Amino acid sequence: AEPLRSLLLSRIADVPDYPKPGVVFKDITPLLADAKAFGALTDALAELCQRYHADKVVGLEARGFILAAPVAVRAGLGFVPVRKAGKLPGATLAQSYDLEYGSAEIEIHADALRPGDRVLVIDDVLATGGTAEASLQLIRRTGAAVAGVAVLLELGFLPGRERLEKALAGAPLETLITV
Ligand code: PRP
Ligand code: MG
Repeated sequence: AEPLRSLLLSRIADVPDYPKPGVVFKDITPLLADAKAFGALTDALAELCQRYHADKVVGLEARGFILAAPVAVRAGLGFVPVRKAGKLPGATLAQSYDLEYGSAEIEIHADALRPGDRVLVIDDVLATGGTAEASLQLIRRTGAAVAGVAVLLELGFLPGRERLEKALAGAPLETLITV
């Protein structure tokens, strides 16, 4: 686990003052460009699908898609997108959540999941937890069960983990790296 963490961490770049002064952006594009690191990340997340007996993988637009789609293929599972509002063509369920300024809304196709499905949710970063929390609410509203949430990078100085606790309802939150 430690060599994996070191490898992944070494491929995440700190970008100071992006997107605004005082914020250090965590850029995962060097990791994605490195076949060994991206492959190791994909393997580690696919293993979590097995461990938690997931039968569907949900990715959160946009960066979550990049991580979750290869995991679904590797694990032999179907992929279901949670998209920003207005992008899915069929009947959807929508959930809004608060941002630092204003709010955002995400959607899932209403028939993408069904009762009995066990879903692993994948995203790149857990910050305030707002995005992940809203996705868990959406998944529960489809009737599916949450097998777990898996995130590459947890920002430990923000209360995302606490915010997610209620929505997880005992399901595991796995973060590969905490900074
Ligand atoms: C980023 C990141 C997570 C989310 C984490 O997404 O990819 O999805 O913020 O923040 P939170 O825990 O405070 O909700 P964002 O929507 O900014 O951009 P993206 O479309 O590039 O993924
Ligand atoms: Mg995102």
